[in-house]
Amino acid sequence: MLVFNNIEKLQQHLSTIYVENQIGFVPTMGALHQGHLSLIAQSQLKNDITIVSIFINPTQFNNIEDLEKYPRHLESDLKQLESINCDIVFTPNANDIYNNSIIASRFNFDGLEYQMEGAFREGHFDGVGTIVKRLFEIIQPNNAYFGEKDFQQLQIIKALVKQNLFEINIQACEIYREKDGLAMSSRNTRLSSTQRKEVPLIYKTILRVKELFKAESYSNIQSWVSNQFEDNPILSLDYFEITDESTLRTIKSKEIDKKYRAFIAINVGDIRLIDNISL
Ligand code: PAJ
Repeated sequence: MLVFNNIEKLQQHLSTIYVENQIGFVPTMGALHQGHLSLIAQSQLKNDITIVSIFINPTQFNNIEDLEKYPRHLESDLKQLESINCDIVFTPNANDIYNNSIIASRFNFDGLEYQMEGAFREGHFDGVGTIVKRLFEIIQPNNAYFGEKDFQQLQIIKALVKQNLFEINIQACEIYREKDGLAMSSRNTRLSSTQRKEVPLIYKTILRVKELFKAESYSNIQSWVSNQFEDNPILSLDYFEITDESTLRTIKSKEIDKKYRAFIAINVGDIRLIDNISL
């Protein structure tokens, strides 16, 4: 496994392998778990070379405390990647990747960026757009893998690729869950044991929403979801929405030929967890 933290050295190496190899890329912020590994496994199936980046991108954090407390496990991440035969790991530093000016560019993603996570985390998707664009330009992969866990991010990356005419196939990967349904997330490691016992309610709730969606109105479902969390001393609801899967606009009335998805964000102390489900 080759580990690069220098952009030029990585590019130099890549220039020698582009011609004969299909390249798969999995961008991450580290603290790797089975969810990340499932993306890497899918890349390894379809590509000759798999590149994983580990970079905690400061510009996508709207909350400095969240950035400071974000788990950092570079050494064990590298061991895990080595053990699954990852080919290349890219671990740039912030000044290099941002050319010494750590600020996000502004993007227009046709309103996708203002829904849900965009509304609750100001500037978040400008930060994501900036770093993913930069990583795509440096690595120029054939395929790039993103989890449906961050479904809004996935749609925004697809828009980014279209706008920039990148010749990169965006591969969407299913949400990987713990046995009790909790979506895997690097932030889960910060949960106390009391909090950990409570958080499976998140998936349980959206699973029930999937059932309710067959017959109930959106407003009934929304009240039901609010009630689930109203008296909970540990979990507080940030938002719950059912949207059209492609525009991410809130559902007005159900149309037969459209796909819908339910989205939820929960605060557990100072930890924010998100999840979603196709309806
Ligand atoms: P990070 O949260 O580390 O996630 C990296 C990738 O793993 C994302 O595509 C995310 O959707 C996916 N992922 C995380 N948990 C998952 C799960 N339980 N099942 C399936 N996939 C999962 O998302 C980011 O980093 C950053 O925003 C990044 C794209 C790297 C840009 O900085």
